[in-house]
Amino acid sequence: MQPSEIFVGSIDQGTTSTRFLIFDRDGEPVASHQVEFTQIYPNPGGIHLETRWHEHDPLELVSSVETCIEEAVRQFETNGYNRASIKGIGITNQRETTVVWDHETGEPLHNAIVWTDTRSQSIVNELKQKPGASKLQSICGLPLSTYSSATKLLWMLAHVQKVKEAFDRGTLAFGTVDSWLVYRLNGGVGANVFVSDSTNASRTMFVNLESLQYDDTLLDFFGIKGKIHLPAIVSSSDAHAYGAIASGVLSGVPIMGCLGDQSSALVGQKGFSPGMAKNTYGTGCFLLYNVGDKPVISTHGLLATVAYDFGGKAVYALEGSIAVAGSGIKFLQENLTFFENAKEVNDLALSVKNNGGCVFVTAFSGLFAPYWIDDAKGTIFGITQYTQKGHIARATLEATCFQTKAILDAMEKDSGKALSELAVDGGMSNSDLAMQTQANLISIPVYRPKMRETTALGAAIAAGLAVGLWRNFAELRDINRSGGAVFEPQITREESASKFGEWEKAVRMCKGWIG
Ligand code: G3P
Repeated sequence: MQPSEIFVGSIDQGTTSTRFLIFDRDGEPVASHQVEFTQIYPNPGGIHLETRWHEHDPLELVSSVETCIEEAVRQFETNGYNRASIKGIGITNQRETTVVWDHETGEPLHNAIVWTDTRSQSIVNELKQKPGASKLQSICGLPLSTYSSATKLLWMLAHVQKVKEAFDRGTLAFGTVDSWLVYRLNGGVGANVFVSDSTNASRTMFVNLESLQYDDTLLDFFGIKGKIHLPAIVSSSDAHAYGAIASGVLSGVPIMGCLGDQSSALVGQKGFSPGMAKNTYGTGCFLLYNVGDKPVISTHGLLATVAYDFGGKAVYALEGSIAVAGSGIKFLQENLTFFENAKEVNDLALSVKNNGGCVFVTAFSGLFAPYWIDDAKGTIFGITQYTQKGHIARATLEATCFQTKAILDAMEKDSGKALSELAVDGGMSNSDLAMQTQANLISIPVYRPKMRETTALGAAIAAGLAVGLWRNFAELRDINRSGGAVFEPQITREESASKFGEWEKAVRMCKGWIG
């Protein structure tokens, strides 16, 4: 079969929806399907950090993937293609979200605790007092917070009887969403394919960023060394490590690539050289900056993470993580009923000339990078008798743009280099207003590619490299290169600095409210 006749599939399992896309050799999606699944908030109305829970049903995540595969393959065949030409599958997924199951039965022992969930705050507070706490970040690249998987696992061990019993019996298996999907799609306990790629594994706090293996100091610190089943850490692109789909329309097709969603977007944007960066405006917003083949431990509030690991040669990134981006728009849609469809946020924001003096610190899960303020609460400043919905819509879009600016400033301090252009993708990047605002606030051009499914494309590239659809990065060069949009800054640096000053003041004032 010629490479041009080969297709790769990409499972994109995100925080609010699951997708399956089928890509051709030009990196164009030729079929796709998307489903939303249940967001479980067990403590509606909880205002204290530890009552802000967010869960997913692990079995529903798997069935959402299966539905998407069935439907996209049906569409693929309706379009005249043959399913036998799909030669490999890549997986990209929401990171940190923690799944536990019984190693002997393959059944989940609790709902997955989602990355946004802050229930482990008091565990974090206790761990911060423990000897050795201050050394963790230099080993794993992450600060102690509710964000990583480790503290979510400790919460389950402390509060869920079934999890504790499996732990005591020695049958507790822990994984992030990638490991869970690979395990179940391979058929579960029978096949027992139990792996995680290094980009996902590096988000747990259990992994040494240099060796990309589990680190005894870390496992000891969290009290789990030798006591639970952990997935084997493998390369992000591998023809054999991930097994194959066990049933359904793509039964027998091998899984060959796997990347956490933010790493995948960097790959999809072809950010392969040090100094390249991308910002993905999904449920949250995540800026990854390629720093090359050595991790850089941030001293300015950023995370060190694995960008990708093709063929056992890891490339690292500095990451700025923003907890709320699309979820802020969802908040306007669902909680405040400002509009029926998220796309309308752009028009609503355009119904006014500016934010009318409103600044919205969207700290629904505390404030992430570069601030890391656990007790920050979502706060709208500057409301007057004249405030319209449009002003609040604008302030919501601006909140993500301001945090992106703060992250870029931190990145410049950590790396000693200023970025010359920011590549963007993800749902909110569809808003011209948001992207123009972004360019204005960071005073550099923002580049938005024509095809915005870069997260799914990244996993397709990982699988495509393993299956031989592409042989090297050079062959990817022309993919998704033409037809993009560039947003040039339209205000002066002084104007931008003055707006940013207002934001920083709001950040200083959004903490300490005990509710
Ligand atoms: O770290 C969480 C991140 O991987 C979630 O991404 O796109 O679902 O907001 P997203």
